[in-house]
Amino acid sequence: MADQTIAAAPVQAQPSAAELRRAAKIRRRYPTVTDLRLGAKRRIPRFAFDYLDGNANEEFCFNRNISALQKIELLPRYSVNVDKISYEIELFGRRYAAPFGIAPMGSPGAIWPGAEHYLAAEAQRRRIPYVIATPTNATVEEIAKIAPDVLWFQLYRFPRNNHAITDDLVNRADRAGAHVLVMTVDTPLGLKRPRDIRNGISIRAPFRTGPNEIYQVATSPAWLMEVWKKGIPQLDNIAPYATAKDRHSIAKVMANENGGSHRWDEIARMRDRWKKPLVLKGIMHPRDAERAASLGVDGVVVSNHGGRNFDGAPATIDLLPAVSAAVGTRMTVLFDSGVRSGLDVVRAVALGAKCAFVGRPLLYGLAALGGEGARYVVDMFFDELRGEFSHLGAVSVADVAAAETRHPGAWRLGANS
Ligand SMILES: Cc1cc2nc3c(=O)[nH]c(=O)nc-3n(C[C@H](O)[C@H](O)[C@H](O)COP(=O)(O)O)c2cc1C
Repeated sequence: MADQTIAAAPVQAQPSAAELRRAAKIRRRYPTVTDLRLGAKRRIPRFAFDYLDGNANEEFCFNRNISALQKIELLPRYSVNVDKISYEIELFGRRYAAPFGIAPMGSPGAIWPGAEHYLAAEAQRRRIPYVIATPTNATVEEIAKIAPDVLWFQLYRFPRNNHAITDDLVNRADRAGAHVLVMTVDTPLGLKRPRDIRNGISIRAPFRTGPNEIYQVATSPAWLMEVWKKGIPQLDNIAPYATAKDRHSIAKVMANENGGSHRWDEIARMRDRWKKPLVLKGIMHPRDAERAASLGVDGVVVSNHGGRNFDGAPATIDLLPAVSAAVGTRMTVLFDSGVRSGLDVVRAVALGAKCAFVGRPLLYGLAALGGEGARYVVDMFFDELRGEFSHLGAVSVADVAAAETRHPGAWRLGANS
């Protein structure tokens, strides 16, 4: 595929003194993603925060992702000239400005109305990949206009009518100009997320609005104002497949039609019909990655959905080297789950990922800061990358990939596994 370099972001007007003071205040209040998470918790209703922050069962897998990343050590190299650093990478014949992107997240409008618009605009501005999810509150067509150079499309499985919904979604994504199709495979069954159960949030039942929920909304005035201005978020991207365009009917499309994991024969079929790069998301086992490679799939995202689906899964970082060793020369290995900083991006690259995808930090940013939160988080990651590259004596992503690491939790699988 021809190398297609994406135009650099336009030069911004100089900020005023008041804007600079405000930016400094925000930086003091939110120096890390952890601070943004706490800000998000204070600013949006509890049920929305829990949807964002919550995970499967006892949330052990989520915690494993975070702590396994923290255990990765990188050996610094000093006395190197790091005045000029390139963070650029090439993925599937396109150049991007950094080795991180934005992971697909369904219904982000519940966290902050218009979320997809802010995320897409920021991804386009900074030239990083943005994966729009299937169940989003904006259509792939409208988001493609905002992020034409960096948009990827994530696909869930819809079994009804011999894949009629799937085919239509894929055609729409193709026509809209999505560059990569990402098939999520790690959702074979309905999920158990206790926080959502406690909050009465279920895709199978209308959202309950009792005194507790009214209190949560009333004490989140900034969020309420946004919802009032923009309307209650609907799953616009899949609304065409609902019998009626009300939100309960659309929710039922997901509940009734969500067909679990794409099967291998369906992946092979998709490989035939989708002519652009194809990626499987949610791969953990190196043998599954090899099977994907043998079908002509172009890439895998080593992911456990951030711990939101299977509480027994290992931390993704602990499988990354094994997957990379198995298929890294044949396909592009991508990574997500638990990335909370530029340092985590660097850890993933050093252990074999071409690019790390970031999920919740972006939505914590939007919830804590409103629309400008997307830019704040992306800028924070770029800024942190600069520091981490410098300490590794790295002036390119290839230098980071060659860094010495210590990885106590790495899985080593036998040849017959
Ligand atoms: C609110 C939310 C919604 C998500 N929705 C989807 C989705 O629709 N499709 C999908 O493949 N992954 C979805 N994910 C998983 C992310 O793509 C990604 O794997 C995960 O968030 C990475 O972990 P992190 O949040 O710790 O960075 C969702 C994650 C969150 C937090």
